Amino acid sequence: MPKEPDNAMLSYRTGPETERLRHRAFTVDDAEAFFALNSHEEVMRFTGEARLASLEAAREAIRDYPDFDTVGYGRWACVLKETGAVIGFCGLKYLPDLEVVDVGYRFLPEYWGCGLATEACRASLAFGFETLGLRSIFAFVLPGNGASIRVLEKVGMRADGDLLFDGERVLRYVSTSSETS
Ligand SMILES: CC(C)(COP(=O)(O)OP(=O)(O)OC[C@H]1O[C@@H](n2cnc3c(N)ncnc32)[C@H](O)[C@@H]1OP(=O)(O)O)[C@@H](O)C(=O)NCCC(=O)NCCS
Repeated sequence: MPKEPDNAMLSYRTGPETERLRHRAFTVDDAEAFFALNSHEEVMRFTGEARLASLEAAREAIRDYPDFDTVGYGRWACVLKETGAVIGFCGLKYLPDLEVVDVGYRFLPEYWGCGLATEACRASLAFGFETLGLRSIFAFVLPGNGASIRVLEKVGMRADGDLLFDGERVLRYVSTSSETS
């Protein structure tokens, strides 16, 4: 699976299905859910990203998201099968500066603590190794983000040192194709 733009590349706009979740690319029809997620103070606390300021900014972010066209995969909307609601995102992202692929996730607080991030993260790792043929997948997390660290531990990723990002210490986790649980 090439990481750089390639016209013959497959685009995985639909991702894996798990027991409780479907994964698919966001569309502008998801703008309200995307805004609720990415403007929420508690959700954004440990992400290092600015909160979205408006519904229009959410529409723009969805429209301008390039990854499915440029690398073929990206962060998917997580749709709760039971209700059809978009409740978060999860998926892989190629980080050109570091030349690695990372797994990331974010869910609305009312769905925290039910194992959904663990379920989604496991599915993204399996997709990366089995469908994309990746050798390793990384995750980057702030030391204070205990819930996210726990998710990474539960899916079998291992601590792999740290780095400074924008002057802030970030923990790195890694999983290699033979290690997933
Ligand atoms: C991180 C996040 C995705 C976890 O989602 P979730 O669906 O609640 O995760 P799960 O239920 O699968 O697992 C959470 C685990 O963390 C534990 N946990 C929760 N808060 C914790 C804390 N402050 N410290 C340590 N562990 C904690 C839970 O008990 C659970 O572990 P357990 O199953 O052993 O009991 C969610 O909190 C979130 O969306 N946070 C905001 C966005 C974010 O920070 N994303 C990650 C950026 S690196």
